[in-house]
Amino acid sequence: DTPLRDLAAAKGKVIGTAVTGSKLTGTYGDLAGSQFGSLTPGNAMKWESVEPARGTFDWTEADQIVAFAQAHGQQVRGHTLVWHNQNPGWLTNGSWTSAQLATLLQDHISTEVGRYKGRIAAWDVVNEPFNEDGTYRTSLWYNGLGTDYIANALTWAHAADPAAKLYINDYNVEGVNAKSTALYNLVKSLKERGVPIDGVGLQAHLILGQVPSTLQQNIQRFADLGVDVAITELDVRMALPADSAKLAQQAADYKAVTAACVAVTRCVNLTVWGFADSDSWVEGTFPGYGAATPYDATYAPKPAYYAIAEALGGT
Ligand code: G3I
Repeated sequence: DTPLRDLAAAKGKVIGTAVTGSKLTGTYGDLAGSQFGSLTPGNAMKWESVEPARGTFDWTEADQIVAFAQAHGQQVRGHTLVWHNQNPGWLTNGSWTSAQLATLLQDHISTEVGRYKGRIAAWDVVNEPFNEDGTYRTSLWYNGLGTDYIANALTWAHAADPAAKLYINDYNVEGVNAKSTALYNLVKSLKERGVPIDGVGLQAHLILGQVPSTLQQNIQRFADLGVDVAITELDVRMALPADSAKLAQQAADYKAVTAACVAVTRCVNLTVWGFADSDSWVEGTFPGYGAATPYDATYAPKPAYYAIAEALGGT
């Protein structure tokens, strides 16, 4: 079978997966290296991972993933610089003035983006800035710095690596809805203000049988705004146990998402959030749900794998 990364390349797309550095060996490493053209560190580049104590940095896993990607001719999507979650305790428990927060954030972005300058194709600069109704999520950053934290983060990231594509990434923004429209309006205003913004990430943590009918239309409206689109964290969870009917529906869902990306030129990357069911976040977060990825827990390809291949023009 032709690897997914080659099928995607023939369509002008890059297919990726989230990975854990310590697992990049054996079958997991073989599949990550051969099937995918892009890697996203699932946790390794988050602030709590890279600076667990103030001024004490640990780049071990992030470096390992970047080196693996370079050795396998893969892109890296950096994930993520500004988020309300997975920040180190010293940061979240501190009490900071606005000026201090701005300095902390600028230093964090300059340090991390600067370290990997030239080796990261795209950064999820800002992650999950919106509530479901399209209002801004309250967070350390929003509360301390107001909405300007977004434009400033993008500007600082661009200064540290002018070649990296800069994204805003969120979930439940796959279809046309209040949240994706808020993201649309934000991107439009950032572009009007000349703020460096290159793309939007649609995470796509989906539920079986619930691919939004407006997915392609939504991707297209962002493309028409003049930004790239990436499907950044695709998975399709189901109530366990899996059975053949559910796996067939899941295959149809993966196929629909892949086809929507293939249909829009500016949809440049489609990344799954872990490629095997044994390496997925879903079961830990949604008890009773799982089997969300294209490979099963023994690394055997599922119907979803073949559906992605088919939507990418494979047989
Ligand atoms: O590192 C500790 C380890 O020392 C400890 O033994 C273990 C025991 O629970 O926990 C480990 O930390 C876990 C971490 O993943 C690393 O494996 C955390 O408990 C766990 O909560 C954390 O979950 C991550 C989650 O983000 C946290 O929000 C998932 O792996 C990661 O896949 C997930 O990814 C997010 C994206 O970044 C943003 N979009 C949503 C997506 C899914 O939640």
